[in-house]
Amino acid sequence: MILQRHLLDLERLSKETILWLLKEAKELKDAYRKEKPLPSLKGKAVALLFREPSTRTRLSFERAAQLLDLETLLIDEASSSRKKGESLQDTAVKLSDLAIEGLVLRTSVSGEPETLARFLDEKGIRLSVVNGGDGIHEHPTQGLLDAFTLWERWGDLRGKTIAIVGDILHSRVARSSTWAFHALGAKVRLVGPPSLVPLEMEGALPARVYHRLDEGLQGVDAVMGLRIQKEREAGGYLPGGGEYPSLWRLEEPLLEKLAPAALFLHPGPAGKGEEVTADLHDGPRSLVEEQVQNGLFVRMAVWLWVLEAMRHV
Ligand code: CP
Repeated sequence: MILQRHLLDLERLSKETILWLLKEAKELKDAYRKEKPLPSLKGKAVALLFREPSTRTRLSFERAAQLLDLETLLIDEASSSRKKGESLQDTAVKLSDLAIEGLVLRTSVSGEPETLARFLDEKGIRLSVVNGGDGIHEHPTQGLLDAFTLWERWGDLRGKTIAIVGDILHSRVARSSTWAFHALGAKVRLVGPPSLVPLEMEGALPARVYHRLDEGLQGVDAVMGLRIQKEREAGGYLPGGGEYPSLWRLEEPLLEKLAPAALFLHPGPAGKGEEVTADLHDGPRSLVEEQVQNGLFVRMAVWLWVLEAMRHV
């Protein structure tokens, strides 16, 4: 495992480091469940800046920090000097001045966490940047928790086939999860209409593209649904006339026919009745609740990892 102070993407994270993080998360989960002592980072502080809505990611990063005795500061842009035009870089310098060691950043701007991390490295400023989801680029802790959930269930992803269905083009989750699944040896299928899953994605990601739902789901070991991003309809990405759900909705009878043993995942928030039926989303093959629970332990592992790297900066 290589220590690194920033977590910006999974594309550049090695299989060894991903596995180390998953094993660390598993140890933390077991310790938590058995009410054993957890590692303590008492005396250290981290901050969360969410410039886009979030429930799962924000709460689990905050809760993970609490369980590790980290002081956690929530930056409210509306009432901070960001509102007066202070740049993100200047805000980050202030955090470092206040001995805050880590920042989780969620943003609509693809690449913003990386730009900030480069600035901090160049200026020698002590602050770790953790990408909490940036635009359509990556959502690395979601990819890690998705991989963790299947790895914990199966023990090994090698030889498994996983389909990700829906708006892959605009999905940071699809990108991060694809990198993680691939690194751990699974085959990944990206499934959806050509407007949302262009064939060129086969060159950009380690995955095969399928434009037919029945072909994409045939024989898979797990299926991940993605939220329908209705804001894309106006851009001409969704099949017109609101027909997307009738063509692409994931349903229990479909899986029963094409992939009877498949597990179901969804990063949330889910549109039940839209991209997935409620009975599949909440049914016996669903790992959605486990995904949310596992997010806590994966984010604890990430805090421990990046803050250990900070000790060497
Ligand atoms: N999966 C995910 O990122 O959910 P939130 O937007 O609620 O954080």
